[in-house]
Amino acid sequence: MSAGLEVRGLNKAFGGLVVARDISLTLRPGDRKALIGPNGAGKSTFTNLITGILEPSGGEITLDGRDLRAMSEAQRVKAGIAKTFQITTLFRSLSVRDNLRLPLWERRGGTGRPFRRAGGDAWVEAEVEALLAQFRLTDVGDRPVARLAYGQQRLVEMAMTLALKPRILILDEPAAGVPSSESPLIAEAIAALPADLAVLIIEHDMALVFKVATRIIVLVAGAILTEGTPAEISADPRVRDLYLGAKHG
Ligand SMILES: Nc1ncnc2c1ncn2[C@@H]1O[C@H](COP(=O)(O)OP(=O)(O)OP(=O)(O)O)[C@@H](O)[C@H]1O
Ligand SMILES: [Mg+2]
Repeated sequence: MSAGLEVRGLNKAFGGLVVARDISLTLRPGDRKALIGPNGAGKSTFTNLITGILEPSGGEITLDGRDLRAMSEAQRVKAGIAKTFQITTLFRSLSVRDNLRLPLWERRGGTGRPFRRAGGDAWVEAEVEALLAQFRLTDVGDRPVARLAYGQQRLVEMAMTLALKPRILILDEPAAGVPSSESPLIAEAIAALPADLAVLIIEHDMALVFKVATRIIVLVAGAILTEGTPAEISADPRVRDLYLGAKHG
């Protein structure tokens, strides 16, 4: 049995449209992998198959050898699989601190500890402050999320997800919609993630992908075209054709 996420021979179709074609992929502790590919390649679908939003038609998904397919979405989160919260799930009128408390209460609940009042829960408050510091959000901690710059809102999503203490973190387009002036914030936040976390980044911004990923997997029409280092991928004529043929993102 090997540590981390192991996907073998994953298949999924929507009617006649095959969106996952025999996908095999591993995410070990410390991995920084990127999943790239054209619009509609099946990247988000793949993440939904891992988190349990979608049911595959075939294949294996295990975490440390444990079968994830038998688990509900909530059980997979508890097992350590997390995909970033979406801005749409943030409480926009609440402060950054209040938003960060939510997943921490969730995590505490998961460990079976008794519920206590927010203000009196030193463990939660200490974690909130540590997350704010890690994502450089301390100065805006009391500000409503709606009043933050968009890039900072995306950092709040990432911080909330990290509050769940995942072992596998899936970031689906962390820089989408972020103005280029703020995109270094996202790259810095990814670079500062815990070293032993396994990270899968789905992103159309190739500058960001090349900055943070050590392995790149190219998905086309539901199938893995190739996997390699950033140098190998950028030198691959098939990948060049793919990205010169159409503009993305
Ligand atoms: N629930 C669904 N029912 C039917 N078809 C779907 C469903 N979800 C996605 N699809 C289709 O599956 C294909 C893969 O979609 P997916 O969203 O996974 O692509 P993607 O690689 O994430 O694209 P993008 O880069 O645009 O986010 C697309 O053709 C999409 O229209
Ligand atoms: Mg997508």
